[in-house]
Amino acid sequence: MRPIVDRLPASKIREVANAGLGRSDVLAFWFGESDEPTPQFIRDAAARSIADCETFYSHNLGLAELREALSRYASGLHRPVGADRIAVTSSGVNALMLAMQALVGAGDEVVAVVPVWPNLTAQPAILGARVTRVPLRVIDGSCRLYIDRLKQAVTSTTRVLLVNSPNNPTGWTLTRDEQVALLAHCRGTGTWIVADEVYERMYFAGHATCAPSFLDIADADDRLIVVHSFSKSFLMTGWRLGWLVAPAAAMPGFAKLIEFNTSCAPVFVQRAGLAALAEADAFVPALATRLRQCRDTLLPRLQALPGVSVAAPPGGLYAFFRMPGSDDSLALAKRLVSDFGLGLAPGIAFGPEGEGWLRWCFAAHDPARLVEGTRRLGSALGL
Ligand SMILES: Cc1ncc(COP(=O)(O)O)c(C=O)c1O
Repeated sequence: MRPIVDRLPASKIREVANAGLGRSDVLAFWFGESDEPTPQFIRDAAARSIADCETFYSHNLGLAELREALSRYASGLHRPVGADRIAVTSSGVNALMLAMQALVGAGDEVVAVVPVWPNLTAQPAILGARVTRVPLRVIDGSCRLYIDRLKQAVTSTTRVLLVNSPNNPTGWTLTRDEQVALLAHCRGTGTWIVADEVYERMYFAGHATCAPSFLDIADADDRLIVVHSFSKSFLMTGWRLGWLVAPAAAMPGFAKLIEFNTSCAPVFVQRAGLAALAEADAFVPALATRLRQCRDTLLPRLQALPGVSVAAPPGGLYAFFRMPGSDDSLALAKRLVSDFGLGLAPGIAFGPEGEGWLRWCFAAHDPARLVEGTRRLGSALGL
């Protein structure tokens, strides 16, 4: 193995989950997914496709009709996005890796806003790039961006600015003003922005149905790659379907990279994606409303626990909080599993900046699970 592969840290969320292996009494909120299965109409579309013998390769960039449907979907939310700027990928994480493979090589510099889902920073590291981490700051329990510090870090030698908003694990979400400032800055330095916007529909500020996106403000040929996924908005984590938006001129390159990575996303999965998009207008806002209810069930109960410090996240699927004992988040997360049957993710899983925190995924089909989870956390606090 290359030394960098040996040095990659194993997932600390898995380490906690392994502590609960084989125990049916554990309430698990550690992974970033709902406990609700994919809707029947999406599963039916995949089953029909298989029954119709759609068992062959597709175009590297995806089925033409799926790229068209994604173009309509994205253009309905943002500025017009032509199908010629869209590549269908085998998941969001695959789209992120393709973006990295397209942009960075050994010795290149990537600046990442952290804490963040560890895959984002591991991928450029695997490719030999140097990752500079710019931490969010915490004010009254909420995360904010030091925009000046980030601009200082992104210079003409920076190949990629990597930003995930709404953010996993903190829920922090870029404001429109911050996006405008970062786009202008990166145009000046010649830096690519890789924006992971997989949680864009999980946005709880006011009545908005979508978080601010770089696709609202960028031109079609800006150095911008926006990464998306069917996983979160359509309850399709196990299907491994995503897409990316990039300048049209980059598409022949992405077609080659997809050929050499996966060749294409499975056709029956793409058909499931088409079915999902056809119902997106009804399905996604209803899901977001349910998730808002989950958030609003969990947050006040967490806030009421003595010593727990947590702010309502504006976006994403997660409450990110501190509590007595969380200075060693991995040890505490393991103890919560073993002694109280409560499965949370340790903040350290998201980098050193996340140490001292725990992450709770509130995407629960039955909000009573969240209520019972907070009761168990109360027991851990001696209540
Ligand atoms: C920030 C972020 N980006 C991308 C993904 C990837 O999603 P998927 O690979 O399931 O499409 C995740 C999944 O948890 C995530 O949290």
